[in-house]
Amino acid sequence: MSELIEVNDLVVRFKKKSSRLINLRPEYFNASDHINLKIERGETFGLVGESGSGKSTIGKAILGYHRPSSGNIIYEGQDLLTLKKAELKPYQKKIQSVFQDPYSSLDPTMTVKEIISEPLEIHGLYPGAARKERVAELLKAVGLSPDDMNRYPSEFSGGQKQRISIARALAVDPEFIVCDEAISALDVSLQAQIVFMLRKLQEERGLTYLFISHQLNVVEKICDHIAVLYLGSIMEIGTSSDICRTPSHPYTKMLMASILEPDPRVHSLDNISIDNGDQKHFENCCKFCNRCPYATEKCKKEVPELVEIAPGHKAACFYSRE
Ligand SMILES: Nc1ncnc2c1ncn2[C@@H]1O[C@H](COP(=O)(O)OP(=O)(O)OP(=O)(O)O)[C@@H](O)[C@H]1O
Ligand SMILES: [Mg+2]
Repeated sequence: MSELIEVNDLVVRFKKKSSRLINLRPEYFNASDHINLKIERGETFGLVGESGSGKSTIGKAILGYHRPSSGNIIYEGQDLLTLKKAELKPYQKKIQSVFQDPYSSLDPTMTVKEIISEPLEIHGLYPGAARKERVAELLKAVGLSPDDMNRYPSEFSGGQKQRISIARALAVDPEFIVCDEAISALDVSLQAQIVFMLRKLQEERGLTYLFISHQLNVVEKICDHIAVLYLGSIMEIGTSSDICRTPSHPYTKMLMASILEPDPRVHSLDNISIDNGDQKHFENCCKFCNRCPYATEKCKKEVPELVEIAPGHKAACFYSRE
């Protein structure tokens, strides 16, 4: 496999929320804190972590929705952050997205045909009669009927709406799709159907996915490689098997333990939110040290680098190296 996308030392900074009405000295934090990723063509790369860990920030930076303050996003050898608006257009065709909430991402006033045609219109593809044929082909590819094209989003179930979002993302024949919590709002059986469909589409069309989820059990099923994020930093990175079978970082172990928990209420971590505003306290220590059962004095005084603990498997933890 060859490399499709590389994220180098990516920093995305946001202003911290302030309780003051007028804040003359706003403080900033790194929602993406020196992130490095390499994604191979044809693979599914997972980003996992609790709410607020910075998963969407990375996805949105790749999609061009956030302007990073430093770092590079290299796509097929080209740094996207150095390109002008017009030069980015071909990449906006190659890189598409599917988001969590089909209710808000699909315009309720547009028909399915109009929704799927919109990116084709933007990129001037499949004009005239070919457009209707293209929409019909895409609807079939995602398990819907061409007869559905004149219906409105409100006439579809949640799973069907997500199929429409996927058809829209596929319309311009992309190479890379950022799936940000694309199946998180669906129930377990629908999740399995959409995962199956995404895999099939990947094989048929040679797609590469960045699959973002807070559900490690879902990521495990679909991803080749996984990066575990905490407060904007990668805590552990490796193959799906490295992360899920032989997790090394105490945070990854905690995520794994939460999915093995028999009580379904604690299977998902979306009820836990970490406060990125606290990041300043973690500048000179391990960000996880205040939640880690193995934390030592060293963890409270030094930042553990992300180092290789086995071929291709890295962890940012002093304890993992012992
Ligand atoms: N546009 C923005 N302006 C300011 N802060 C932001 C912005 N977008 C995200 N943040 C903050 O950056 C941090 C990371 O947010 P992000 O949305 O990337 O997390 P996430 O891991 O995707 O969480 P979730 O699982 O809830 O979607 C959070 O503290 C969030 O409040
Ligand atoms: Mg998110």
